[in-house]
Formats: sequence, structure tokens, C-alpha cells
Amino acid sequence: MGAIFYPLLAISALLSGVSGLPYQKQSPAQQLQSKQPTLDGLPSNSNLTLQHVGLGAGTQNYTCNGTAWVQTGAGDGAFATLYDAASLLAASTTSISSLPSGRLAQYKRVKECQELANLLPQLSILGNHYFDANNRATFNLSQANPPLVLSAAKLDSVQAPVADAISWLYLVDANDSISRGLKAVYRVETAGGVAPSSCTSAQMGSSTFIPYAAEYWFYD
Ligand SMILES: *[C@@H]1O[C@H](CO)[C@@H](O)[C@H](O)[C@H]1NC(C)=O
Ligand SMILES: *[C@@H]1O[C@H](CO)[C@@H](O)[C@H](O)[C@H]1NC(C)=O
Ligand SMILES: *[C@@H]1O[C@H](CO)[C@@H](O)[C@H](O)[C@H]1NC(C)=O
Ligand SMILES: *[C@@H]1O[C@H](CO)[C@@H](O)[C@H](O)[C@H]1NC(C)=O
Ligand SMILES: *[C@@H]1O[C@H](CO)[C@@H](O)[C@H](O)[C@H]1NC(C)=O
Repeated sequence: MGAIFYPLLAISALLSGVSGLPYQKQSPAQQLQSKQPTLDGLPSNSNLTLQHVGLGAGTQNYTCNGTAWVQTGAGDGAFATLYDAASLLAASTTSISSLPSGRLAQYKRVKECQELANLLPQLSILGNHYFDANNRATFNLSQANPPLVLSAAKLDSVQAPVADAISWLYLVDANDSISRGLKAVYRVETAGGVAPSSCTSAQMGSSTFIPYAAEYWFYD
């Protein structure tokens, strides 16, 4: 027993001592550090360290205020499952621009109504994304190791480069003592999620759930 155990300890001590040497394999997040898609208007991410990349898939919830679908009330906002996309995207950086739109197209084909089933490529679950009781965007990466949380406030928003897609965003820690291990997230490569252009007074107070998918790049 001891004869096996001690050499293992010696190897792990050696490995921790050499981290940073060129032959050490980088984590998927390290490989993706410089690969995040950006748009003019979103701030630089160069001071931040990438921790995870999530594929978010679910709905954007809106309420009719009598003339427009808005996201200002309780129950409005995103409601999505976050899938762990870093390994996939690190292995295939061309998928960075196509993963959310591909998922959304599959979603529409299978007509799942609440959230995307775990369609191909199958990814493990990282956590979920929702708006809390204070209408605060919350990302609970409960399945990450270690688990992380970001309770976020939106700082910047730019129009998506494709039609019928919700905006690309930059959100940072809301500093309400809920976040753990994360400082910021970018929502990029969005697909879907856009509300109809208007609603009527007869629809006032009713909700609509618009399917969407997006990549969330999480930083500390
Ligand atoms: C990054 O750091 C530089 C130098 O400290 C600072 O001027 C810049 O505003 C920072 N950028 C962001 C996006 O925080
Ligand atoms: C509904 O929301 C739209 C868009 O934010 C706004 O322009 C309009 O004034 C709102 N209507 C009411 C009745 O609050
Ligand atoms: C948003 O819509 C989904 C349906 O996609 C629903 O299950 C969820 O409860 C809604 N979120 C909130 C906060 O009401
Ligand atoms: C995150 O999810 C985990 C597991 O469901 C839960 O125990 C925890 O309370 C959640 N954290 C927040 C901040 O909602
Ligand atoms: C939270 O605090 C950090 C660090 O001071 C700051 O960069 C960030 O902008 C703050 N968040 C908000 C929403 O103001």
C-alpha cells in the first residue's frame, strides 16, 4: 500500500511544481482565454481570467405591459440550463460561432417547451441561469468544481450581429454578497430570444417564453 501511495504523492508534488512549463497541458478555459468573440461596444476582457464557458439554452420570459413585451417584472428574464461547453469549444474553435444557433435549431425541431433537452453534442450540465426574486441575473454553476455563483448587473449591451437574436452583453458582479469565484460574464453568440415587436392591451399582464441559446463566458 505504502509502496504505491508514496510514489503517487511524489508525482503529484512534481506536477504541481512544474505547472506553467510549456509541456503542461492547458485546461480548456486556458486554451480559450484569448478566443472569446467580441463586438465593438463590449469592454475588453483582457484583465480577467476565463473560468468556464457555458452554453445557455432555455427561454427569455417577457410580460406584456399593454403595448410592449418587457422584462421588468418578477418572473421575467432568462430561464436557462447552462451546459459545460469549454472542452468542446477548445477542441473545435470553429464551433464557437455555431454552437448556440445549432442548438436553437435543434430545439425548434424537437419542440421542447421548457428548456433544451441535452441534444447533440451532449454536454454535461454546469448549472442554471435565472432571474432571482429581486430580478437579478443569477448564474449558479452548482456543478462546476468548485461550484461558483455570479449575481450580476448588466454594464453593457450591443446589438447582436445577426437578425432575430438578443443582444450581446457584459455583466459584472452586482456586489450583493451572493457571487462566489466569478467577477464577470459575457453573453455572446446569441440565437433567438427576441420578443414579438408589440402586444395589445388585451394581453396586458400575460407572459411569453421565447426560446434562445447563447454562450456565457465566465471570468474571475
Ligand atoms: C484593464 O486594466 C487597465 C490597467 O489597469 C485599465 O486601464 C482598464 O480599464 C482595465 N480594463 C477593464 C475592462 O477593466
Ligand atoms: C411598455 O414598455 C415600452 C417599452 O419599454 C414603453 O415604451 C411603454 O411606455 C410601456 N407602456 C406602459 C403602459 O407602461
Ligand atoms: C420562465 O419561463 C419558463 C418556461 O420556459 C418557466 O418554467 C419559468 O418558471 C419562467 N421563469 C420565471 C422566473 O417565472
Ligand atoms: C445553487 O444551486 C445549488 C444546488 O441546487 C443550491 O444548493 C444553492 O443554494 C444555489 N445557490 C444560489 C446562490 O442560488
Ligand atoms: C462591483 O465591484 C467591482 C470591484 O470594485 C466593480 O468593478 C464592479 O463594477 C462593481 N459592480 C457594480 C455593478 O457596480
